[in-house]
Amino acid sequence: MKRICVIGTGYVGLVSGAGLADFGNEVICSDIDAEKIQQLQQGVIPIYEPGLKELVDRNVKAKRLKFTADVPEAIRNSEVIFTAVGTPMGQDGEADLTAVEAVAKTVAQNLNSYKLICTKSTVPVGTGEKIKRIIATFKNNGNEFDVVSNPEFLREGSAVGDFLIPDRVVIGVDSPRAEKVMREVYRTLFINETPMVMTNIPTAELIKYASNAFLAVKISFINEMSNLADAACADVHVIAKAMGLDGRISSKFLHPGPGYGGSCFPKDTNALAKTANDLGIRMEVVNAAIRANTNQRESVLERIRDLMPELAGRRVAVLGLAFKPNTDDVRDTPAEEIVKGLRRMGADVVGYDPIAAENFKKYYDPELEIKESVWDAVEDADLTVILTEWNELRGLDLPLLKEKMRQPFVVDGRNILSVEELKALGFSYRNMGRSKI
Ligand code: UDX
Repeated sequence: MKRICVIGTGYVGLVSGAGLADFGNEVICSDIDAEKIQQLQQGVIPIYEPGLKELVDRNVKAKRLKFTADVPEAIRNSEVIFTAVGTPMGQDGEADLTAVEAVAKTVAQNLNSYKLICTKSTVPVGTGEKIKRIIATFKNNGNEFDVVSNPEFLREGSAVGDFLIPDRVVIGVDSPRAEKVMREVYRTLFINETPMVMTNIPTAELIKYASNAFLAVKISFINEMSNLADAACADVHVIAKAMGLDGRISSKFLHPGPGYGGSCFPKDTNALAKTANDLGIRMEVVNAAIRANTNQRESVLERIRDLMPELAGRRVAVLGLAFKPNTDDVRDTPAEEIVKGLRRMGADVVGYDPIAAENFKKYYDPELEIKESVWDAVEDADLTVILTEWNELRGLDLPLLKEKMRQPFVVDGRNILSVEELKALGFSYRNMGRSKI
């Protein structure tokens, strides 16, 4: 059991803090956002993440988890400091390290005993070294410290499960002492034989980017295949299934759609490309995946135009505004560009999302007309466009959809509707790589 402080209470910090407490550690989550901390102290979870409230409540009740806005105090009272602050995309695609560097300075100024500073935030290779230099420069006593890289692999919507039962834990260390401390922090996972990758700091930093970029490449690849499948009257699902049966390829992340979004893939692919460029290394594959992803938003609009060339004055219901289901996150959501594109073509757009509608309005489109239910959204619509595979939309009652709409036109950007049923009901439709089967 270790005394841990987690700095930053966003998706990553909050899930990690509560998860580390669940592993038996004594955790204090801190943030400079006093309002957020006050909410957390009152048991209010500021984000939508299934299972997180239960995890937080359980550990608060067991007195293993606390919240404070006093970051220096939290640091002084802890041996292990997890940094989980944001690293947003900077102007040239690089990760903006302002918050990470500020935390390193605060740690240095509060180094009242040996401490281990563990980076959870996604940071470019070389950041561990930078943090070491900052702490060494700003500390004003002889206390020792170690720096560790421990990247997160949490998927929004299933982050709690990903933290508690991970596929693997990656730990980058450069001292036996740091390794020993990290083994204690993750004792529970060592006991249940979770695969642990112990390596040096730069390797751990790169593993995170390599993993995310590779998944992004897979998605962009299958998205381009879906465009080709539509042009060639083939079925991309069968292609993906057959590819996935080859164990070397695996069937995961071969689902075509409007392109990846969210807080990680767009940002991390750009940051990796930027790092490589700065180091004089060519990363053609990653750069192509980024371009293909940008084009994929346009591919959805092309399908819309193909199905309904004249959109001016037509009512279009966009179902799903989040970048993926089970989250209220709209960062880099494909819906942003697609709703914009529909508007540009003169369509009268209404939106629906079970969780993310408010965020979409707040960050992108305050004017967007939002409906409270699918059925209100599709009422008298000339076209329905599906952009997120919420379960509620997977099970859409197609006969009722036809009845409600003014015209039975559907673009299924996630391939969740049955082509057979759409055909049988007389819908005109497009999807991603199965339109012509
Ligand atoms: C991702 C990584 O999975 C996680 O390990 C990392 O730490 C953070 O980034 P997340 O962004 O929450 O997690 O979502 P994920 O489920 O990976 O999906 C990312 C995007 O790819 C979504 O927009 C999703 O719709 C898209 N996607 C995913 C596809 O278009 N096709 C697929 O087959 C899989």
